[in-house]
Amino acid sequence: MRIACLGGGPAGLYFAISMKLRDPAHEIDLYERNRPDDTFGWGVVFSDQTVENLMANDPVSGSIIQSEFAHWDDIEVHIHGQTMRSSGHGFIGIGRRRLLNILQDRARELGVRLHFEHEASPDLDSYAGFDLVIAADGANSRIRTEHEAHFGVDIQVRKNRFFWFGTQKVFEAFTFAFEETEAGWVWAHAYRFDDNLSTFIVEMAPDTWAGLGLDRMEQAEAIALCERIFAKYLDGHALMSNAAHLEGPEAWLRFRRVLCERWSYRNLILLGDAAHTAHFSIGSGTKLALEDSIKLAEVLNRPGLSRDSALAEYREERQVEVLKLQNSARNSTEWFESLERYLHFEPIQFAYSLLTRSQRVSHENLRLRDKPWLEGVERWFQSKALGTPVNDPAPPMFAPYRLRRLELANRVVVSPMAMYSARDGDPNDFHLVHYGARAQGGAGLLYTEMTCVSAEGRITPGCAGLYRPEHVEAWRRIVDFVHANTGAKFCLQLGHSGPKGSTKVGWEGYDVPLDEGNWPVMAASDVPWSARNQIPRPMTRADMDEVRGQFVASVRMGLEAGFDMVELHAAHGYLLSSFITPLTNKRSDDYGGSLDNRLRFPLEIFRAMRAVWPADRPMSVRISANDWMGELGVTPDEAVLIGRAFAEAGADLIDVSAGQTWADCAPVYGRMFQTPFADQIRNEGRVATMAVGNIYESDHVNSILAAGRADLVALARPHLIDPMWTLRAAAAADHRSVHVPPQYLGGMAQLARNLAREAELKA
Ligand SMILES: Cc1cc2nc3c(=O)[nH]c(=O)nc-3n(C[C@H](O)[C@H](O)[C@H](O)COP(=O)(O)OP(=O)(O)OC[C@H]3O[C@@H](n4cnc5c(N)ncnc54)[C@H](O)[C@@H]3O)c2cc1C
Ligand SMILES: Cc1cc2nc3c(=O)[nH]c(=O)nc-3n(C[C@H](O)[C@H](O)[C@H](O)COP(=O)(O)O)c2cc1C
Repeated sequence: MRIACLGGGPAGLYFAISMKLRDPAHEIDLYERNRPDDTFGWGVVFSDQTVENLMANDPVSGSIIQSEFAHWDDIEVHIHGQTMRSSGHGFIGIGRRRLLNILQDRARELGVRLHFEHEASPDLDSYAGFDLVIAADGANSRIRTEHEAHFGVDIQVRKNRFFWFGTQKVFEAFTFAFEETEAGWVWAHAYRFDDNLSTFIVEMAPDTWAGLGLDRMEQAEAIALCERIFAKYLDGHALMSNAAHLEGPEAWLRFRRVLCERWSYRNLILLGDAAHTAHFSIGSGTKLALEDSIKLAEVLNRPGLSRDSALAEYREERQVEVLKLQNSARNSTEWFESLERYLHFEPIQFAYSLLTRSQRVSHENLRLRDKPWLEGVERWFQSKALGTPVNDPAPPMFAPYRLRRLELANRVVVSPMAMYSARDGDPNDFHLVHYGARAQGGAGLLYTEMTCVSAEGRITPGCAGLYRPEHVEAWRRIVDFVHANTGAKFCLQLGHSGPKGSTKVGWEGYDVPLDEGNWPVMAASDVPWSARNQIPRPMTRADMDEVRGQFVASVRMGLEAGFDMVELHAAHGYLLSSFITPLTNKRSDDYGGSLDNRLRFPLEIFRAMRAVWPADRPMSVRISANDWMGELGVTPDEAVLIGRAFAEAGADLIDVSAGQTWADCAPVYGRMFQTPFADQIRNEGRVATMAVGNIYESDHVNSILAAGRADLVALARPHLIDPMWTLRAAAAADHRSVHVPPQYLGGMAQLARNLAREAELKA
């Protein structure tokens, strides 16, 4: 094949090498606009895995690269005058220029024709004689831009400013240094990449950048300022720039996140940063470029595979890897962009949060990397929770938690789940067994399903209620069982279905109106849940008074039944949620429009409940922190204000769910997908939160808690299928301080033994 490689960065060079290795007959011309020794940036980092891939693909260049790598294991985080050092992270670094020189030599040796100082044209006609044109011209690819329409390009320019410096100060650990200036926080990502040079990237928020005057400063002045800010880390060494070609402030870049729906068009293929970028804070851009190159060369040389099939396979296989890395990179980018949120953490938690920011590194990964450090975090967490120093580390999920006078034995919660198994609102034997079994399973807190404050407030005829004296007796039987036989506390979730009422039970069709016997429904406005649901009656002030009275009566009954805690359900499109989200609240009176107005009725209900619920017992509120409809609905930023408003009205905990407020919304699902909202509300709104949503491993729970993303963690579906979820997690962690019903102690001991044996065998 005759191939034109446009761009001589890691992607273009390594692709050319990988093609020649597979078939020396390929004729490859590589065009690079710079000279061989010109390069922006300083060092790049890889993981051990990437080096193994390079060795397998080309042992010749692989071994030169490997022999020149600077290797280090430690990460140091400097914050608030303290240094947190953890180990076992295994990084390797190499100078970008050195890497390119090694690849250039190897490409030449294999017969690739290298043309430097050659600006490649974006006009495809100029490559008429070539079978393939590889656009490896980086994140700002001119070729991609010229043919943009064919690639489905999505570019986000991130907000922080950064400058990629070098320095002769040799950092022995990967160093994150955070410094406060008069204009805000500034931080450095620094690492050694050869015997006497380190990369030193300085990053900051745009306001800080402007506040420090960097938006109008010449480079020399900016460098002097950064040297002053980071003087204590640089030991008198200078910061060096190789961005002299850029005018003063222009050397301060904003990261461009590039994502393309398609990576090829006819015989033009995007490779490396031209196709996708990953934020520098996870150091994976070069790895992606190199691994793309290996895969592309492999499929193009596979006998019997047509070009189109090869490209389809290339895309299919690499896409998954790229998306995973881009997700991690997004989390990491957002962490640095939201730094203010975490600055109140103690240094040890700040460091943990930083290390787990991409969500690729979890609690158990940290244990593998540096057990003593992780155990230090666990001891710190337990000591904080107990208010006294402890010597024995234990997983964060088993730390106690206090809400007003209520003591929870641990941080695991059985999330509210409608069972649709009541008759006339009455919970029955099913509920006794259901809640009884889950309370025996070891969670610190158990929620009832949405328990309705009136017959019309039910979602379905099967919903449980608390609006008649018989309901009190029926619930008391269950509450008494839980208190007498388990260590769990019991929270009553109270709600009113509003526009989503009068529908069939879940397994007969969610949100489908009844075949007969429908009752009229009401909401903030006459906006139906969907085209097939009833048009609700907009609530009058008299309706509001009546509903408020119902909530208050139910709270009183909850007290009689013996519940430890009450939650107001103001999420998921039900009555109170229909007021909060602007998607369904179209009112023009005092209850619609601004957020204050939309919150007026839900807050009125909450305050009325709080007034009759004992002051020493806690209350929570479940909210939908994101309508998943962009600015048209509730956004996570607005959810911080919602959480704060309820906290100021006396809520002790915000139960942070999301969505189900608009039938056509587009949630972004994934592991722990709603946890970022719990994090934001907790750390910006400074209110305790509970995370929920696709959290299913104890590793998730521990990571969320130790990183301070939430105070409690609720699991719903995992508890449906495994009532003993917490006991199982305790057995796996060989953790003994958990309440096990005495009747089940033998099972617990056997499970712990078996799991320990399995773990030993695996190790
Ligand atoms: C601050 C910062 C730090 C980073 N740190 C790391 C790290 O630690 N680890 C890591 O793996 N990655 C890191 N990266 C990312 C990494 O640099 C890129 O992901 C990687 O270089 C991508 O390789 P590439 O070959 O696709 O693109 P590039 O390296 O950008 O190469 C593109 C080449 O094309 C040339 N070119 C462009 N247009 C033309 C044209 N019209 N004609 C001819 N030539 C042209 C350019 O001169 C350039 O040489 C970092 C990036 C930044 C910005
Ligand atoms: C069968 C079922 C019923 C549910 N009923 C309720 C409910 O009554 N009240 C509520 O706030 N959330 C309810 N939810 C939502 C859960 O509490 C939880 O937020 C959601 O399932 C995501 O958590 P998970 O991924 O752990 O399942 C229900 C979920 C399920 C699966």
